[in-house]
Amino acid sequence: MAKPRMHVMIPVDADTVVIGAREIKSRFSAEIGNRGLADEVKVIETGSFGPTNAGVVAAIQPDGVIYGNLTPERVADIVAEHVVKGRICGRYVLPRECPPPVPEAADSRQTQYAGRIVLDNCGRIDPESIEEYIANDGYFALGKALTEMTPEQVLATVTDSGLRGRGGAGFPTGRKWSFCASAKGDQKYVICNADEGEPGTFKDRLIMEGDPHKVVEGMALCGYAIGASMGYVYIRGEYKLSIERLEKAIAAARAKGLLGKGIFGSAFAFDLEIKIGAGAYVCGEETALIESMEGKRGVPRLKPPFPATHGYLGKPTNVNNVETLATIPAIVRNGADWFRSFGTPGTPGTKVYTIIGHVKRPGLIEVPAGVTLREVIDDYAGGIAAGTFKMAQLGGTAGEILGPEMLDVPMDYDAMAKVGHVLGSGAILVMNESVGVNDFLHSCLRFFRHESCGNCNPCRNGLQALFDIAGRLKAGQGYPGDVNLMEELVMALKTMAYCPLGQSPAGPVMSALRYFRPEVETGIDPSRQRPEPGHTQIDLVELTI
Ligand SMILES: Cc1cc2nc3c(=O)[nH]c(=O)nc-3n(C[C@H](O)[C@H](O)[C@H](O)COP(=O)(O)O)c2cc1C
Repeated sequence: MAKPRMHVMIPVDADTVVIGAREIKSRFSAEIGNRGLADEVKVIETGSFGPTNAGVVAAIQPDGVIYGNLTPERVADIVAEHVVKGRICGRYVLPRECPPPVPEAADSRQTQYAGRIVLDNCGRIDPESIEEYIANDGYFALGKALTEMTPEQVLATVTDSGLRGRGGAGFPTGRKWSFCASAKGDQKYVICNADEGEPGTFKDRLIMEGDPHKVVEGMALCGYAIGASMGYVYIRGEYKLSIERLEKAIAAARAKGLLGKGIFGSAFAFDLEIKIGAGAYVCGEETALIESMEGKRGVPRLKPPFPATHGYLGKPTNVNNVETLATIPAIVRNGADWFRSFGTPGTPGTKVYTIIGHVKRPGLIEVPAGVTLREVIDDYAGGIAAGTFKMAQLGGTAGEILGPEMLDVPMDYDAMAKVGHVLGSGAILVMNESVGVNDFLHSCLRFFRHESCGNCNPCRNGLQALFDIAGRLKAGQGYPGDVNLMEELVMALKTMAYCPLGQSPAGPVMSALRYFRPEVETGIDPSRQRPEPGHTQIDLVELTI
């Protein structure tokens, strides 16, 4: 069959499916088919292009034109004018500054996609085609590792690259792998943590939807480096499209001999399975995740021992985040020095973020580590949507609040730590002055109260008490001393809670107090009297929430 002269590329991810991306795709196929052009013009599903804020979009390649806010009528016009006659429908074209558009036709690697490591294929290739992944250097790193490198060399490359885990804590990946590699045991496991339960965080989903083979290849490379023959992707059940695409990727890799026994003719055997979770936030914590995988209630284990020695089924297990694993193929393919040429000395490479809230173009971005929050907002997300910047929360609901004075701090793990902050997992929630800090805290604490597994008393009761205080402050009915009490409670939870879930509210609460304490205190009603201890009280604020 002749090579198609044109591709219509439509990002179909879980967000665009709900606004009709599949219907738009069918409409393109029908319009093109009706004109007898199905062999010449291919309609392809891709992963997310990035932030456009323009409904369902489609890129026409090789022309490099992106149309937005597509409706069936617009599709008919685009096919009639652009596809058939080659005349661009200017009225539906997205503005050029809408970043990051799909690459220019001629030299995608040199234009907008240059500098992308994890998302380089997202929006460019069909995520369901292993051939397209392979045509874009896919599985090259695995082949190189298995034919030219020892497991120790792969491990050394990852260590030298300085990659730090993208699941939130920024732990050096090579060091983590070395713990598992040196653990005793014939059977070891690789787990990809695809639970992604923090509100506002959806980077891992879009990576899996846009380029699932990268995760598969990263896991196989990890398996080779640490001596594991089996890997699992632990993924929340709500991530249906990610599951579907990962399943297809695993099956395609198996069919091509890239999973299974004797990969690339080597003695290395590695296979993958998907384990579906039920969507509890705590199951993103690596030991609760392992409990859940073992069919038990998702409650974190006490550490030590760590999963590296006592993980899944008691065997040495390495748990990494989706983005961490998706970064590995490029590191092995291009080397540690290449990776270190991106980002900062303390945080080499790039970071994938989902940026949401009061910005003009919310969505998925990949930026060099070390760019500032101001640059991310202005250059990648189109600036503040309305009003002025008030605060941003980094890293999902457990993340910290940053006030305006932090807009110019480089976003890398060390620079953030220097100013007393944590970079987090990769969600940025931007808020303008319309957001009240007490409303915001109430919403955060509702999430934690809801997600507490109830296993330990400080978390179970402490989060309820915190939520009650936040409800009073939000309603302007706080008791005198409530703000201090809130502070004491989160700090008590930080030291007493059994697992990091109960320790997490300290992040948003303490950072909100750091920047906005006077505003939080406006929620206190000085005329209210705190009831005597022991007096059973039904909190009317709580009842009205
Ligand atoms: C309550 C809680 C939820 C977590 N959820 C996730 C998650 O959804 N995805 C993730 O990768 N890490 C999550 N983590 C961190 C994991 O425990 C673990 O550190 C991470 O998967 C390690 O991967 P990395 O080294 O690649 O960063 C969570 C931690 C806690 C305490």
